[in-house]
Amino acid sequence: MPIKNNWPGPKSVALFDEEQRYIAPGIQSIALIAKLAIDQGEGSYVIDADGQRYLDFNVGVSVGSLGYSHPTYIRAVSAQLAHLSVGSFTSRARLALLKMIAQIAPEGVRRTQLFSSGAEAVEAAFRLAKSVTKKTHLVGFTDGYHGKTAGTLPLSMVAWKNETGPYPPGYHQAPYADCYRCPLKLQYPSCGIACAEELRTLIKTEAAGQVAAVIAEPVQGTAGNIVPPDGFLTAVREIARDAGALFIADEMITGFGRTGHAFGVHHDQVTPDIMTIGKAMGSGFPVSGVVTTDAHAQAKPWSMPSASSSSYGGNPLASAAALATLQIIRDEGLIENSRRIGKILLDGLRDLQNKYACIGDVRGRGLMLGIDLVQDRKTKTPLAKALCEKFFTEGLKRGLIAMSYSPRVRIHPALTLSETEAREGLAILDESFASIEKDI
Ligand SMILES: Cc1ncc(COP(=O)(O)O)c(C=O)c1O
Repeated sequence: MPIKNNWPGPKSVALFDEEQRYIAPGIQSIALIAKLAIDQGEGSYVIDADGQRYLDFNVGVSVGSLGYSHPTYIRAVSAQLAHLSVGSFTSRARLALLKMIAQIAPEGVRRTQLFSSGAEAVEAAFRLAKSVTKKTHLVGFTDGYHGKTAGTLPLSMVAWKNETGPYPPGYHQAPYADCYRCPLKLQYPSCGIACAEELRTLIKTEAAGQVAAVIAEPVQGTAGNIVPPDGFLTAVREIARDAGALFIADEMITGFGRTGHAFGVHHDQVTPDIMTIGKAMGSGFPVSGVVTTDAHAQAKPWSMPSASSSSYGGNPLASAAALATLQIIRDEGLIENSRRIGKILLDGLRDLQNKYACIGDVRGRGLMLGIDLVQDRKTKTPLAKALCEKFFTEGLKRGLIAMSYSPRVRIHPALTLSETEAREGLAILDESFASIEKDI
């Protein structure tokens, strides 16, 4: 795969530099390093201001489930915009969306409240859990990510968070089942998923009788698309129940086909008490939600008039965007596509692992895949940051965007990705590995 892009293109850089004079610092690392100005998107590709194409294995951190400019999506959103776009009255779009979520969610989890951002939904889920249990403590997992608001930061892996506190009290973190970098230095399956038992111990020692909810990502996204072993979520669910706490599955990234099932919890056939959803469900339109059981949804004060609502949550435009997205995922068999193409990518990454010593680990469920880049396979020392960034920019030069600028590479393309596109991405990754290998 020859270098095809003059990255960074002059028009991109000029626009990026001009924007830097106005935008507040703190934008996403991927945008800061890439310095791309994007003019257009088509399917799995974006086109920059210099007219250069990139295969996008990131799609807005897994938001663009349908890829770019899906014609059915455009028609549905445009039609709704022309008719009605704001307000909290019942709309046909909202009703149809709520019915559809109830159909595809795990058994019994069928009551939805809609919001706009992921962190907003997670905070609403925490308030719901507190309303149900009348308890106040919350437990998450190391290296988890649930947002950057005051109520979610204590459970998010964010290096600087201690500089922006104090945060509300009552948060705790147990070790996640990150088998490649096991927090307990054990091996699966002989470990018996001992990390889950750490959760039980933590609850007992830090917050016995006080835990409202345990929240987990079915696959940890921000941490590096970390896939827990089968049985981990089941164990977490049982330990939460034993502690009298609810189990919240944060399906913000894993929901709606990303992992090759409708939801990440389906891999363990676990039914959560509450699910938080967002990102892919609007394929770019900011919409999120809390889904729970009939019984939990009645809890007060969460269920009182105006208590769980928000200005934009479930507005007709957001509802139409989410409804169109879920209909297209169903009608085009995108969950099956995620499974099928995800396997092609995973097999391809395993082949690359056999070829390049700097690939310590590859893992994935559906179209949510992760790679660990290492200096040395034995010590598992993460690859130096500068080399990771070079790996990322070598991809850009060859026309690939992926979250590959740190040692834990995250791959999550559009659910519409074709086999040809998957193989194109693998070929670019192969070339990019070859180009950094000599520097390691
Ligand atoms: C699992 C998970 N939960 C919550 C969030 C927060 O979502 P938002 O950025 O929309 O607030 C994210 C964002 O990446 C996430 O990955």
